[in-house]
Parts: sequence; C-alpha cells; structure tokens
Amino acid sequence: MEKNFKRTLITSALPYANGPVHIGHLAGVYVPADIYARYLRLKGEEVMFVGGSDEHGVPITIKAKAEGVTPQDIVDRYHNIIKDSFAELGISFDVYGRTTSETHRKTASEFFRRLYEKGEFVEKSSMQLYDEKADQFLADRYVTGTCPHCGNTNAYGDQCEACGTSLNATDLIDPRSAITGNTPVLRETKHWYLPLDKWEPRLRQWILEEHKEWKPNVYGQCKSWLDMGLQPRAVSRDLDWGIPVPVEGAEGKVLYVWFDAPIGYISNTIDCVGDDWEKWWKDPETRMLHFIGKDNIVFHCIVFPSMLMADGTYNLPENVPANEFLNLEDDKISTSRNWAVWLHEYLRELPGKQDVLRYVLTANAPETKDNNFTWKDFQARNNSELVAILGNFVNRATVLIHKYYEGSVPVAGEFNDADLAAMNEINASIKACAENLDHFKFREALKDAMNVARIGNKYLADSEPWKLIKTDPDRVATILNLAVQICANLAIVCEPFMPFMSASLCRQLGLDLIKWDMAGRFDLVQAGSVIAKPELLFEKIEDSVVEEQVAKLQHAKEQNVLNSWKPEAVKPTVDFPTFEKLDIRVGTVLECEKVPKADKLLKFKIDDGMGGRTIVSGIAKYYNPEDLVGKQVLFIANFEPRKLKGVLSEGMILSAVDADGSLVVASPSREVKSGASVG
Ligand code: MF3
Ligand code: ZN
Repeated sequence: MEKNFKRTLITSALPYANGPVHIGHLAGVYVPADIYARYLRLKGEEVMFVGGSDEHGVPITIKAKAEGVTPQDIVDRYHNIIKDSFAELGISFDVYGRTTSETHRKTASEFFRRLYEKGEFVEKSSMQLYDEKADQFLADRYVTGTCPHCGNTNAYGDQCEACGTSLNATDLIDPRSAITGNTPVLRETKHWYLPLDKWEPRLRQWILEEHKEWKPNVYGQCKSWLDMGLQPRAVSRDLDWGIPVPVEGAEGKVLYVWFDAPIGYISNTIDCVGDDWEKWWKDPETRMLHFIGKDNIVFHCIVFPSMLMADGTYNLPENVPANEFLNLEDDKISTSRNWAVWLHEYLRELPGKQDVLRYVLTANAPETKDNNFTWKDFQARNNSELVAILGNFVNRATVLIHKYYEGSVPVAGEFNDADLAAMNEINASIKACAENLDHFKFREALKDAMNVARIGNKYLADSEPWKLIKTDPDRVATILNLAVQICANLAIVCEPFMPFMSASLCRQLGLDLIKWDMAGRFDLVQAGSVIAKPELLFEKIEDSVVEEQVAKLQHAKEQNVLNSWKPEAVKPTVDFPTFEKLDIRVGTVLECEKVPKADKLLKFKIDDGMGGRTIVSGIAKYYNPEDLVGKQVLFIANFEPRKLKGVLSEGMILSAVDADGSLVVASPSREVKSGASVG
C-alpha cells in the first residue's frame, strides 16, 4: 500500500555530545540518511534533513565531573567537533541544532505541558537511591556495586558489564555512590510516567498490521517488545542537567533525556523554517523517516510514537530504516576503549578522501546484519574499485578526447548494436539503482551505480577506439561521444554516494545542473563542448597509509590494557615467623645464557658469596642474557632445588610483573655484598 506524499522529513539520530562521532555512527545512520536526502533532492522532491546534537543525559554529567568542567563545556566542545566534521564529510543537513538551545527548551517544555494538561501522564512515587553526602538522588549510572547475577564487584546500576545483564540500581548488592563513595539510602521520589500500555493496541495495529514493509530487523524488534507487553515509562529524572520539568513541585527534576531528545527533531525543524514547521510534522502529505541505529529502535518505534499519539496532532513515522552495528577490525567499536575510527581524525589524517570513506561505509553498510570495517578492505576497495573501475573509466574517456580532439567532444554518428546494448545495460543499472534507493538498500544501490562504470570500461575495452582511430575516425567519434555521456551518467547516479567526486566530474564535463531524471540520457554533454583537462578522481592508497592506521589502533589496544590494569588482590595475612622462613638474598650475575630448546628460560650463574650457584628463570622473553651480566638480583636462597629442561635450578630470582605481563628483575637500589640477606 504505497501512499503518495508531497514532501519528506528525514531525521537522523541526534548523537550524544559527549564524544566525537566514529565510523559506526556514520555507517549506521548518517551516510545512509544523507544518501537518501541527496537522492530525493536530485529527484526534485521537497526534503528536509534534520540533525543535531543530543546534549542532555547522565553520561555527559559524568564526563564533566571527571574532567572538572561543566556539562555545558562538554557539550559545547563536542557539538562543534561533530557539527564541523559532518559538514566536512558532506552530510547535507538542512539544519544541525542542539538540545541545549532556547527553542528546544521551549518546544520540549510545551510538549510536556500539553500532555500533562491532557492528563496523559501518571504520577507515581517510588524508592530511589539517594546520596546523603552529595545531597542528591543517584542516576543508575552513578551507582556501582556487586552484580546479583555474577558477583562482579564493579557493576553499574544500569548494567553489569561483566555478564551483560541489565539491572536496576536497587538490585545491586553493597551499592556505592560513584560521586562520594558513600553507601546510598533509599528515599521516596515522585515522577511522571507515560503509560505505554495505553498505546499498545494502536501501536500493534500501526506497526504489525500497517507496516509489514519495514525492515525485518526493525519489525522483529518491535514485535518482540509488543509481545512482551508495554509498561509505563518514567519521563522525568532527579538530576540537575536537562530541561526542568515544567510543573509546580518539580524542583530538582528534569525531563528524561529520551523524552526531550526526539522532540529535538521538532525544535530543529522550527529553527530551520520558523512558523512553517507544522507542515513538516502535521500535514498528512508529509512523509517522516527516522534514520537510526538498532539500539534506538524502541525509542523511535514505540516511545516517541506514543508521545506523538498522546499529543494527537502529529504524524507518525512512515518508516524507520534502522541499521545493525559496524565492527572495526573484527572487534566491537567502543568509545571507552578508544576502539574506533573517529571522523574528525580521519578527515585530518586522510585529507580529501571523504568519498572513499563514504563509499567503503556504504559498500559495507550493516543493513541486514552487523558488518566489519578493516583498513585492508578500505585500501582494497579504494584501489581495486574506485581507482581501477570508476577512476580508470573516466580517465580513459577524457584522456582519449584530449588526445584525439583537443578536449572537444566529437559528434556521434549512428549508434550500432554494441552501443545500444551498452546503453540498455546502463539504463537497467540506473533503474535498479533507483529501485534499491527507494527501498533503503544502499549497498545494492551503490553496486548498481558502480555497474555503470563497469559497463563503460567494458564498452571501451571491446570497442577499442585506439585501434580504429587511423582507419575509422567516424566510429571513434561515436564511441568517445558515448563514453563521455556515460561519464555524465556516473556524475548523476554517484552523487548521493560520492558528492565530492560527482561535483568534480561535473566540473570536468561542464555540467552545471544535474537531476536524477537526466540519468539514462546519452545527450547530456553537447558535442563541440570542451571538457577540462583530465584530473584523477581517486588516487591509489599505499600500504604505509593503512599500516599507520592499523598501528594506531594497535596502540589504542595496548593503552587500554595499561589503563585498565589493577593490582592483584592482596593474599591472606602471614605472620612474622612465616615470613622469616623465606631466605631472600642478593646475588651478582656472573654468567647468563639461554637454555637450549626452551624459549622462556635463562640460565644464571650467580655469585651468592658462598661459592656460587645456578638458577633458571623464565624471563628470556624480556631480556638479552648479556645485558644482565654484572647486575645484582634478589633471589630466594632456600627454594627447593628443581630441574628445569634438564638444568638443576637452586633458587628463584624475583621479578615484578608489569601491566602488560612483562617481567622485570628486582635489584637492590645500590650495590651490596653478594650474599647479603634481604628482610
Ligand atoms: N543520542 C542518542 C544515541 O546516540 C540518540 C538520540 S535520537 C533522538 O543513541 F531521537 F532522541 F534524538
Ligand atoms: Zn554480572
């Protein structure tokens, strides 16, 4: 049941302004949304593409506290980084707002008030954890304690990261406040709840019956939520960062971030078009689409629609083409572990390669299942697809025109069967591309667009104009005219995916205005018009470039291991007599060598002041034997002798274990007599 709409409102999830955006965000949300917005604009449709930063919520307050700055400082910093990096990648928002704006405060407050006055909320009191020292209620994230499921002693109040269970802060055993370390107490607090159960029948009808065309991952998640049964959801929090709950007696309470953030789409529309905003939100001839990642499905398909239904004057989304997740080098992208490719860093480190990233993220888009980004694949797709297929075709066509005709596009004669066959194939690819774009199948659509270049390459290879130029110049004119027209088609069909390449190709060909419905025509570049000197659309990426990126990730991984290091728990107490049983001495290394056929072991000849002894130690991976000769070490002199790889070891050398597991030999802080006791 396809409806006819007059215009499309495209929203893309508002990223939290507590960090920059990474390739996972891009592949899941912003690149597909931008492709779709550009496609509709090329078709001449009325479009508004809304973005903005999500600047409330607890994680922002935690980050601010950790850095000793205000939450406003944090969101100002990241809002600007995010906004600028999106612009540089060519994400073509019509508006990029923020939820700390005055427009948004007003819009969200009024939205809450309307629902409040209509009696759409239920007020309920409950017991929440309260930190008496900090004099505040504790958000779930602000509480740590022992997980009741697995016993992890550092579980967060909303989730245990060891066993993955989602928790309520009140479930934790031995809860502690993350602010003061105090044990919190339970205190009663009042909140406003949106009764989702009230909207369940309408949601079931609307999604499960009327939107069977939604992507299976989206439809399936909605169905399982609906089948579990919906509960009222609190839309306020005890917190001092957010939009104050606009009713009497709500001091110290703010709107829950997931209540105010989607209203940000409305506020940002208002910031974009002023009074005209209602036609984008309330006119039934407007089609609304939410581009999001899979973790946002419930909020965009259940919670926000319930808010819109409770108001009663808004449209519901027509589709929510949510994506799965993108992994990085076979590992989950993680902000806290710094396992990510950050957009602002990519733009700085690989300048001018916006389209390469857009291309690779689209080709690997996690549309139906989680997908993986690797630098090796990034390089391969650039070198063997963008350079070898697309760049190569355009370059061959334009170079030949310059070689044979001084850059002036020759007049085509009559087309033969080979020409017509190529045109037909191209038309079929363009049609398939449009159809896939219409259905949010961006990976497939990109393949169709690239097929136009593939067909062009094959056409040139088969028709061999370089062989005919002496004998049949008229035929060559036709071939190269058609080749230029294929280039023009590429400029059009690639625009949504690679807008920078398309703009540069248009400049080369002298096309000033492109529209989607010009694709499939083969008279786009006038015979006689002069095309610019060929410039390469893409350049080869060398091994060193991607190796540097892989090394950077490797470094992040190592930093992470170091940062997450904690000392081992202290062993049970021993008394002095027990300690005294150990005879620790200082020895001087006389000789040191590898033990044959044992890659971990070093054999020491130690001067122990008592005639010398042999000790074997498992530190071969961390030292060159010759570097240890002459050094003093600590060893246990009364350790039971034992044979290691056939060598009798008379004692044990003491080493510290560093964060990365490496062993570091312990020595006295100045030279002492060999055989001196340690105690
Ligand atoms: N900030 C949320 C996230 O990154 C997304 C908010 S989408 C909106 O997961 F609809 F609430 F704006
Ligand atoms: Zn657990």
